[in-house]
Amino acid sequence: MKKQLLIMDMDPGVDDALALLLALRSPEIQLLGITTTAGNAPVEMTSLNAMRVLEYLNASDIPVMQGAQKPLKHRLVDALHYHGPDGLGESELPPAISPVQAIQPWDFIAHAAASNPDKITLVATGPLTNIALTLQHHPEVAHHLAGLILMGGAYGLTPYSKGNQTPYAEFNMWQDPEAAHMVFASGMNIHAIGLDISLDPTTCLYEQQLQQLQQKSAPAAAQLASKLVDYAIKHHGRCEMHDPLALAAALENMEIFGFTPKQVKITRGNGAKRGVTYALIQKKTPSLHPIYIANKVNGSRFLELFLTRITGK
Ligand code: RIB
Ligand code: CA
Repeated sequence: MKKQLLIMDMDPGVDDALALLLALRSPEIQLLGITTTAGNAPVEMTSLNAMRVLEYLNASDIPVMQGAQKPLKHRLVDALHYHGPDGLGESELPPAISPVQAIQPWDFIAHAAASNPDKITLVATGPLTNIALTLQHHPEVAHHLAGLILMGGAYGLTPYSKGNQTPYAEFNMWQDPEAAHMVFASGMNIHAIGLDISLDPTTCLYEQQLQQLQQKSAPAAAQLASKLVDYAIKHHGRCEMHDPLALAAALENMEIFGFTPKQVKITRGNGAKRGVTYALIQKKTPSLHPIYIANKVNGSRFLELFLTRITGK
């Protein structure tokens, strides 16, 4: 099978870890590397958490590159209150033993893209700081990647579109709106999964799905996933699958999503509308490239994909 080449940029985070498990359990994917950013937790913690998950799945041959310490223009506001003090739902994974790589994320992404032109999909499930820094250091990457799939934003395209960091803004976009602005304006082939989709209850895990993960003799991925999901259900009533949805969008031939092309603007700075994303109704500024925003999802198809890949059943 011809493998799909992916790089994941993430801030693990419970749902980032679930997305990483899905990637590791998807045979059509070759994960070339993970770049980490500050977001849900400080970048030292998100890097160690990526390593801990890789080692737990015996995948520590996949390199981890530690990236941005903070957003481009703002101080970091983490979400450990949501993900638990360890950032991984107190899943008590063994501490990481492998080191992060010495190469900077932007140099890793640029080198990989130059060596595999138009073949690598970048999946970003945290604030877009590393992606913006990649565009700053290596502008040519915008046209060397096959595409960027990002989890972030709330675009008013479904009844579930509202903020989760403020009433109007989604966490990743709010954390670094200046980075997001640069990425949206880059001309990259971008697909976005926003809260319009990931707050749809049909895409969330509940007690019923948790029991499927807790089946006897479940593989290691399911054992870890069940701890992460159990923490989310116990603390938040359900497990919102923001980042696994973005990864699922990278799995080709999955009729799970519908996308619509829209020009997108984002409010920068630190005011009340910081990080609010607007899908413009019509072509207002000819120079602004449209991005493809998910406006439809088959929730049951997504849950089936996630659960069968993670449990192997
Ligand atoms: O708003 C949800 C997003 O912010 C997810 O990627 C979550 O992990 C956090 O990074
Ligand atoms: Ca994330």
